[in-house]
Amino acid sequence: MKSCLLYVVLVVLFILLTTLTINTDALTGDLVEPIDKPFVENYQNKELNFITVGDWGYEGTEPGQTIPNQYRVAEAMETWAQYYNDDFIVNTGDNFYISYAGDHEGVTSVDDPKWNRVWKGVYKGRLAEIPWYTVAGNHDWYNNVTAQVDYSLNYDSRFFLPSTFYVHESYFGPDKTKVAWIHIDTNLLFYNSTDLEEADKVLLQQQLKRFGWDSSQAKEDKLKWIEDKLIEQQDSKWIFVVGHHPLIGLCAMQYYMVRLRPLFEKHRVAAYFSGHAHTLQIELAKLGQPVTYFLSGAGSRMEDRCPGQDWGVPDKVLGFLHSTINDTVMTYEYIDSTSLEPKVVYKGVVYPRY
Ligand SMILES: *[C@@H]1O[C@H](CO)[C@@H](O)[C@H](O)[C@H]1NC(C)=O
Ligand SMILES: *[C@@H]1O[C@H](CO)[C@@H](O)[C@H](O)[C@H]1NC(C)=O
Ligand SMILES: *[C@@H]1O[C@H](CO)[C@@H](O)[C@H](O)[C@H]1NC(C)=O
Repeated sequence: MKSCLLYVVLVVLFILLTTLTINTDALTGDLVEPIDKPFVENYQNKELNFITVGDWGYEGTEPGQTIPNQYRVAEAMETWAQYYNDDFIVNTGDNFYISYAGDHEGVTSVDDPKWNRVWKGVYKGRLAEIPWYTVAGNHDWYNNVTAQVDYSLNYDSRFFLPSTFYVHESYFGPDKTKVAWIHIDTNLLFYNSTDLEEADKVLLQQQLKRFGWDSSQAKEDKLKWIEDKLIEQQDSKWIFVVGHHPLIGLCAMQYYMVRLRPLFEKHRVAAYFSGHAHTLQIELAKLGQPVTYFLSGAGSRMEDRCPGQDWGVPDKVLGFLHSTINDTVMTYEYIDSTSLEPKVVYKGVVYPRY
């Protein structure tokens, strides 16, 4: 009897050990492969409050500026997050840029000083207490993208990027209202790796090749994973998809990206959140087109709008998006924080799927 128990304990230990070993020895390519099991978060509050920000990792100043763009947006974000007691950040990617001569794209490793300088040292108060649900942008792939996943898994899970494809479910309020978030890596759907000749994109090309993500089969597999998750989450009151590249107007409807909108519309995604273009824009849901397309990519850099939106800030504006979800509606507002007196420049609502 005793030896039988010992045997069981040994087997369990062995299984535990091998699982742990497999985790720590994961190949860097494995780190970015989609995770099937959803991450679950429960909230007692009657509503969820969150900021969507993208393209925030540029520390530089513009000529004549004393306060860098990134700090202007961070300060306004902190004010909003404090006021609403925000629950989390939806981070649409491009976490680390080249900010000055001699700087590098993305991060090189989990020890890169940019973790503290560009992220922890900038976002304070409530912003430093809540998780940042992250997707990878192209500038993250221009360097060691798996180091960002490694950082999340082994150093600080508040920077939430357990893979570049994952699902996160939030339940809130007395009725445990379910919100599903499908976080996707749009880089392999946006870039045709055979075309990536420019020097700054070589690492992106090399990693896509090394992970086998340059083949058309890999792209089909990822699209199938996205559709499988959309089907699995049909019991959610809200389904949101988050990716780096936008699907508004002419901005990113290219290569395999064109396959996403039909999937989202078929499976009644409530909204898609993106960044990449350094602007604040929206394409509204309308009759026959049930998805709201948000673009929030003005966290530290600004540029002209991309054509084809229903609303957008004027060219060259900084800012972010703030949203509140309750049992009946999601309200949102875009905040322009170019100047030191941030202001709400556009607001609206998104209705649940049922
Ligand atoms: C990239 O990051 C991974 C994960 O932290 C690490 O194993 C690898 O050595 C890094 N690559 C380079 C070239 O430094
Ligand atoms: C990718 O780029 C190559 C070279 O320009 C081209 O031949 C190929 O058709 C492109 N693939 C797709 C799916 O657009
Ligand atoms: C949800 O928010 C909307 C807009 O702020 C408000 O009108 C409505 O009463 C709220 N519903 C609940 C159940 O709190």
